[in-house]
Amino acid sequence: MRIGTVDLPNRFVLAPLAGISCTAFRMLCKENGAGLIYTQMIDAGLISSKTAEEVNKFLNIQDMERPVSVQLIGSEKNILVKAVEAVEPFADIIDLNVGCIEIDYLQKGCGAALLKDLSKLETNLRAMVDTTEKPVSAKIRIGWDNQHINGVAVAQLVENAGASALCIHGRTADQGYAGKVNWTIMKQIKEKVKIPVIANGDVTSYNEGVSLLQKTGCDLVMIGRQAQHCPWVFHEKQVDIKQQILRFIQLYEQYEVRQSPVEVADHVFWMLRDLKTSEDTKKVHLIQTIPRIIRYVNRL
Ligand SMILES: Cc1cc2nc3c(=O)[nH]c(=O)nc-3n(C[C@H](O)[C@H](O)[C@H](O)COP(=O)(O)O)c2cc1C
Repeated sequence: MRIGTVDLPNRFVLAPLAGISCTAFRMLCKENGAGLIYTQMIDAGLISSKTAEEVNKFLNIQDMERPVSVQLIGSEKNILVKAVEAVEPFADIIDLNVGCIEIDYLQKGCGAALLKDLSKLETNLRAMVDTTEKPVSAKIRIGWDNQHINGVAVAQLVENAGASALCIHGRTADQGYAGKVNWTIMKQIKEKVKIPVIANGDVTSYNEGVSLLQKTGCDLVMIGRQAQHCPWVFHEKQVDIKQQILRFIQLYEQYEVRQSPVEVADHVFWMLRDLKTSEDTKKVHLIQTIPRIIRYVNRL
């Protein structure tokens, strides 16, 4: 499987997850078999004003994670172009967010708002494609709401604008993260475009991922929320949850710039969801140092 010039080792993709996709988390997903890693969305205005050194530190992409798709969110062509120039040296693929439903971004015409302004979407994507030799992609939803399902038209526009791939989250913006994922539209999109299509939405196991690929005919499958709790969702093997958590902390201590016990505790809490224990795991949030979090996990 390839996206543009980028070879992918398998068909499983880690979704962009704002507030979750720190370097250690991305690396743990990679170690567990994710074939393509997305960064969380990065504000184009914010990143375009940074020096190359600052961008490098901010992205903090490690070689073992590659290939990595750096996702940008923005609505102004010139700012997106500057952002592409800023992240290009560090990215394998550059993605445009066309699905975010955060009100602040929608008000600025970013994310899913672009589903309602197709000429702007096309102009922005073309400009991004023209700025870089690296493959550019877009992550879209199936439409704004049930009365405006335009996923197929948007996908064709994305392809015509020169994108090398497309990710489809099978919900409308109006649905947010609730309600059913629409596999039919995903399948229709795959049938209508030639670029690789990544199917996304509600996959909670490796086998469900394989099944979504079969049902939709899509080329790749992306997993988000289940990976937050189970970075090992990218394979079928049984894992020792405590060992996975300790590995996360090891990666965090070795590679993360922030060294924040609060951030570590959040991840530990999320990953403890499926561990059978009588302990109230919320207590991990009260622990104030990383070594003490390690001791807490070891005692479980
Ligand atoms: C906490 C959280 C943060 C997210 N951040 C992003 C983001 O930065 N960029 C993006 O395109 N989608 C983002 N999403 C959407 C996911 O990438 C994904 O499309 C969605 O969760 C559906 O997939 P899932 O059912 O596998 O979680 C986010 C979702 C959640 C729950």
